[in-house]
Amino acid sequence: MPAAATTAAPGPATGPAYDGPRFPAGFRFGTATAAYQIEGAHDEGGRGPSIWDTFSHTPGRTLGGATGDTACDHYHRYPEDIALLRDLGVDSYRFSFSWSRLLPQGTGPVNPEGLDFYDRLLDELLAAGIAPAVTLYHWDLPQALEDRGGWRVRSTAEAFADYAALAAERFGDRVERWITLNEPYCSAFVGYAEGRHAPGAREGRGALAAAHHLLVGHGLAVRALRAAGSREVGITLNLDRIHAASPSAEDQAALLRAETLHNDVWTEPLLSGRYPAHEHETWSGQADGPWRRPGDLELISEPLDFVGINFYRPITVKAAPHRAADPEQRTAVDIGVTEIDPYGTRHTTMGWPVVPAAFTELLVGLHTRYPDLPPVWITENGSAEADEVAADGRVHDQERVSYLDAHMRAVTDALARGVDVRGYFVWSLLDNFEWARGYDQRFGIVRVDYDTLTRTPKDSYRWFRNLIAAHRAAPDTTS
Ligand code: FCB
Repeated sequence: MPAAATTAAPGPATGPAYDGPRFPAGFRFGTATAAYQIEGAHDEGGRGPSIWDTFSHTPGRTLGGATGDTACDHYHRYPEDIALLRDLGVDSYRFSFSWSRLLPQGTGPVNPEGLDFYDRLLDELLAAGIAPAVTLYHWDLPQALEDRGGWRVRSTAEAFADYAALAAERFGDRVERWITLNEPYCSAFVGYAEGRHAPGAREGRGALAAAHHLLVGHGLAVRALRAAGSREVGITLNLDRIHAASPSAEDQAALLRAETLHNDVWTEPLLSGRYPAHEHETWSGQADGPWRRPGDLELISEPLDFVGINFYRPITVKAAPHRAADPEQRTAVDIGVTEIDPYGTRHTTMGWPVVPAAFTELLVGLHTRYPDLPPVWITENGSAEADEVAADGRVHDQERVSYLDAHMRAVTDALARGVDVRGYFVWSLLDNFEWARGYDQRFGIVRVDYDTLTRTPKDSYRWFRNLIAAHRAAPDTTS
């Protein structure tokens, strides 16, 4: 299907004088998406299936049986989406390659139509003056690799490195910034322990092995990208700002276990070259499995050019009985912790509390704990809201504007406290397939009508465009 001209006019960038957040000169702005959430064309152009095709087509796995078969049809409509980005004025666009569009079986024969698609996308972005930031893995493992064990097995990490090498050789001349993995927490623990995401497994050791192999795959990919001459290489983590429900010894111990599961399992190997200090009490010794090999920590802790942080909301934890009494029967997320929600603030339609100060605390905490922290990029931040199209045909998403405004100010607070943050990407450019939550959760600054696939820029799009224009005209010179 050819790309139809269905984009509604975004309207002029007029309005009252700018009084939004201000960033230092050189700070960069962008929006983010991911392949399975927007591309569609699931069985076109030689693409092979991924675990998200299998999962979303399994009854009961996603809300209302939603799939990414069509999603936003970005595969066909990407010129229109790039026009929206150009009009927005972003410096950069973060998106992901679909591994199984490039390598339908995960390894082996390359799909020339997949290469052509990303060639066109990159070329059009560059022609629009937008620097591509590419995520290699945003959760869509080729199904062929899952059939051979998925992230539970080391050969998947090796296949990932080969895919990274292929991508760097073919596209490295046009990609400014490479992100190896998006949120490995979700891949390992939501996918292989909670089972809420693909591949829908509920395991203990399997999920811990997956976490390790994701990190090994990251390290191998860093080396492959650098060997091909890439200069800006990093990883995106969804680190959590975690509060304890109380100062009691039980809740403080629960906090340590939650910190281990959510944060330290990633930051310690990546940034300190060691395994997390509290992994034994968290997983009863199971994390230290035979999948760990000598030399892995050196590989995983290859220096990074930047760390990507995705932030949405804080969490609060409290001690709770394990779901399985026998440690051997526990999934990797069954760590004797439950989440409570003491936040008396507004919540988004995801049910997430809006607490911008937690964003500052997270960034400052990371910077304090890791003095040699590489530069930080906010690779995702945004909110899902109950958007409606008003009588004037527009989406007046004031809640999203407030969310973005407050969270960007939280980033400027972190900058003022010495955290080296270089850029910020809004999640997301478009409303899209929100994984197990299907299409009900709208994160876009551009509305997508899923019947017609028409794109309509929301008020938040205009707000962001004004912010970028104001930043270009007069960056903050006070810091
Ligand atoms: C993050 C994911 C992204 C999107 C947002 C809302 O965890 O990286 O794909 O689903 O949440």
